[in-house]
Amino acid sequence: MKVLAFNGSPRKKKWNTVTMLEHTLEGAKSVGAEVELIHLYPLDFKGCASCFACKRHDRKQTGVCVLKDELAPVLEKIRDADALVVGTPVYFGSETACTRTFLERLQFPYLNYQNYADSHFPRRIPTGLIYTMNIPESMIEQMGYESMFERTRSNLERQFGASELVLAMNTTQYDDYDKYETGFDKDEKAQYREAVFGKDCRRAFELGTRLGSGTIETQ
Ligand SMILES: Cc1cc2nc3c(=O)[nH]c(=O)nc-3n(C[C@H](O)[C@H](O)[C@H](O)COP(=O)(O)O)c2cc1C
Repeated sequence: MKVLAFNGSPRKKKWNTVTMLEHTLEGAKSVGAEVELIHLYPLDFKGCASCFACKRHDRKQTGVCVLKDELAPVLEKIRDADALVVGTPVYFGSETACTRTFLERLQFPYLNYQNYADSHFPRRIPTGLIYTMNIPESMIEQMGYESMFERTRSNLERQFGASELVLAMNTTQYDDYDKYETGFDKDEKAQYREAVFGKDCRRAFELGTRLGSGTIETQ
């Protein structure tokens, strides 16, 4: 089993999203999977160019994006993966721009324009979706985040196979809250992190065990 993880945060070390992804990959490794973490921000790539080359009747290959940039070898690698996990911070109520750009390029070639219920991805593989965000759980409904999470999760499910969501809320944003503007109480943030972030990481690890052992029921 080969599990690929994609970090959609610009922060590559120790912060929330990458930490959650590292736990997912640890979980996958613990059940014998081969794993790889790919940071999206350093890659030079753009979103779908709307060229529709992937929808032409005379295309040479189905499910392949013709754009040749630093994402192309990553998309090729995904064709051979057994499971995928995408991690992103929430930026302005959505995935980061880099994550959305990646998801456009990943999903559009596999979208079957004649039958949306079908996918051009050659197999069914499980996927995971991890969001980290500053707001606490009490604000999720009011901010309408659930529909955003579900839209992306269900798109992944349609293209690839069963998709699971893991959330980390009320995340710590800075090392030293005294140095930055914030509407949050630094002691409350620290207490929350101490009490909850370890459990979030545990859920990320458990997601990894399911992705790595193929025990997520694919549809
Ligand atoms: C540009 C920007 C926009 C953000 N917008 C939101 C937001 O809309 N909702 C939210 O809950 N957190 C928001 N955040 C906070 C991040 O989602 C949160 O701190 C996240 O855990 C950061 O992930 P990281 O530590 O992996 O970079 C924003 C942060 C930045 C830098």
